Amino acid sequence: MAENQELKPLVVTSVSEMQRIASELRRAGKRIGLVPTMGALHLGHMSLAVAAKEDADVVIVSDFVNPTQFAPGEDYDKYPRTLDADVTLLQQIEVDYVFAPQPSEMYPDGFNAKVHIGGVTELLEGEFRPTHFDGVATVVLKLFNMTQADVAFFGQKDYQQTLVIRKLVRDLNLPIEIVVCPIIRERDGLALSSRNQYLSSTERQEALVLNKALEKAEELIRSGERDAPVVIDAMRAIIATAPSAVVDYAYIGDPESLVELSRIAGDVVVLLAVRVGKTRLIDNRIIRR
Ligand code: PAJ
Repeated sequence: MAENQELKPLVVTSVSEMQRIASELRRAGKRIGLVPTMGALHLGHMSLAVAAKEDADVVIVSDFVNPTQFAPGEDYDKYPRTLDADVTLLQQIEVDYVFAPQPSEMYPDGFNAKVHIGGVTELLEGEFRPTHFDGVATVVLKLFNMTQADVAFFGQKDYQQTLVIRKLVRDLNLPIEIVVCPIIRERDGLALSSRNQYLSSTERQEALVLNKALEKAEELIRSGERDAPVVIDAMRAIIATAPSAVVDYAYIGDPESLVELSRIAGDVVVLLAVRVGKTRLIDNRIIRR
C-alpha cells in the first residue's frame, strides 16, 4: 500500500520505541530535527516545526508537560493538555513523529538525576523560579538522548531558556545544533503563549502593555537614550497603566551573558516578566545597534 501522507504524524508514547525509531533513522543517515514543546500548540510552536521541516529530513515534535520544571504551587495541574488537537495541527505540516511520553516513563520510580547549569540560570527567571531551569535542562537532555536529534529548535520567546540550552550543549559537548526562531505575536502584539488562555478578556487587553513597553524601550534606545534605568522607568510607567499588572522584572542585559547593563553601548536584550492577574507572562526584544 502506498504511504498515506494523511496518516502523518506517528504518535509515539513509549521511550524505548522512540529510541528504536531514532536509531533506525540515524542508521539510514537521516538528519533528525527536534522541536521540544509542552503541547497546547499555537502558531509560535508551529513556526518552530516549520523551520525544522525546512532544515531536517525527519521532524520529531515532543509534546510533554514536564513536571520537574514546575514548582509546587505553579500551574502544572492546570496546564492545558490538548494532544489530539496538537496532532491535528502537526498533521497539516506533515511532521513525522509526535513524541508524547507519560510522566511515569520519563521519571520512573527511583529516578534521581538532575542537570544543573550554573551562571545564567541564577538571575531573572531563576530568581523567581529557582528550580525551573534544572527541570528544563534535565528534560531537554533526556529528549536529545531519546531522539538522537542532529538539530533542535527553540523560540526566542523564552530568551533565558535559549541561553541555558546553548550552555548545556557547550558545557556537556552535546553533538547537536541549536536553532533559535523569532517570537510570533498576535496582530495586536501579544506574544503567543499557551498561558494566554488563562487571561480574562480584560486581562488579555491589559497584557498588551508588555509589548508596548518593549516597543517604547526600542524607540528610546533608537533615539539615543543610553541610560538603562531611564528606559526601564519608561517601561514600568507603561505597565503601570494596566491595573492588574505587576512587574516581576524589567531588565536590560547583554544578549549573550545577560549581565545587567546600566549604560547602553552595543546590542542589548530587554526582558520582561509581568503578572497579569494570576497569569505570569514573559516577553523580550533584542535591540541591535
Ligand atoms: P513550551 O512553553 O511549550 O515552548 C516550546 C517552544 O516553543 C519553546 O522553545 C518556546 O520558546 C517556543 N515558543 C513559545 N511561544 C512562542 C512564540 N510566541 N514564538 C516563538 N516561539 C515560541 O519551552 C518549553 O515549552 C519547555 O520549557 C521545554 C523546552 C519544552 C522543556 O520542557
